[in-house]
Amino acid sequence: MSKYKIAIIGCGNIGADICIALQKGDIPAEIVALHDIDEAKAQLLKRTFHLDAEICDLDTAVSLSDFVIESATSIAVEPVIKSCIKHKKDCLIMSLSGLLNNLNLIEEAKNNHIRIKIPSGAICGLDGIRSAMEAGLHRVILTTRKSPQALKGAPYLIEKNIDLTDIKEPITVFEGNAFEAAKAFPANINVACALSLYGIGPKDTIVRIIADPNIKENMHEIYAEGAFGRLQTTTINLPSPRNIKSSYLASLSAIAELRTMAEDYIMHCLYCPERKSKNKNNL
Ligand SMILES: NC(=O)c1ccc[n+]([C@@H]2O[C@H](COP(=O)([O-])OP(=O)(O)OC[C@H]3O[C@@H](n4cnc5c(N)ncnc54)[C@H](O)[C@@H]3O)[C@@H](O)[C@H]2O)c1
Repeated sequence: MSKYKIAIIGCGNIGADICIALQKGDIPAEIVALHDIDEAKAQLLKRTFHLDAEICDLDTAVSLSDFVIESATSIAVEPVIKSCIKHKKDCLIMSLSGLLNNLNLIEEAKNNHIRIKIPSGAICGLDGIRSAMEAGLHRVILTTRKSPQALKGAPYLIEKNIDLTDIKEPITVFEGNAFEAAKAFPANINVACALSLYGIGPKDTIVRIIADPNIKENMHEIYAEGAFGRLQTTTINLPSPRNIKSSYLASLSAIAELRTMAEDYIMHCLYCPERKSKNKNNL
């Protein structure tokens, strides 16, 4: 039986975790194309996992696949989605701060019947947030707690000249909405983007970031109030084995989305071979 064809855009940590998952053989998908701004990274992935994949430019990679996984960086999001719209391919976007800066593309993709899958990433509770939205939410707060090391290099800290190297106690380094958080901490706060897109939107989602020298794990807490009542979730993440700035659960959420898409595709091939799967809901 044919497999779901995947293009990986951005062949770093998450790309490698996807390859490891596919090696186990129980997801009916195969990587057919790799694209990375640094070609050596694509070559390394291909060599390490013995992939029968083409290393190529973005547009070719998208055209060769059934499903595109963006695991690169926020500035890659716009060209990836535009290429997916051009070639009529569904995609999974990991660099969600890039999506927040291009909200018009979500609408454009919907109008072109392209699904943009938004992974839950490193946070739990988005199922409840989505359900609660059916009756409305009036308050959503994300509190993220990370070690100073995990926040290092964030544009906001550099711009405000905030040095966290010798802090002994937890300090709140940022409070603002999800739009502001995505600009201030683009590589750290994908969870805020996912929460806001599933919930009341980036303008109204409140984000607090705490630098805590006493923790090794990344911790994300959601507090939400709405017509349904209140919810609180806490997710404590181990860092990814290959990247301290990334939570392992984020890679696992990408793999879970890929599994669902691939199984859906295979079901459609079995029961409706002439039609490719399409779903009106973009989430
Ligand atoms: N949604 C979430 O919850 C979540 C969680 C963790 C990470 N992320 C995001 O996923 C993305 C990938 O994370 P990672 O840990 O694999 O990072 P990584 O640094 O390990 O890998 C990124 C790869 O993308 C490549 N790249 C950079 N810019 C590119 C471009 N313009 N076009 C093509 N390739 C490019 C790099 O060379 C690198 O090989 C990041 O943007 C990160 O912020 C999202």
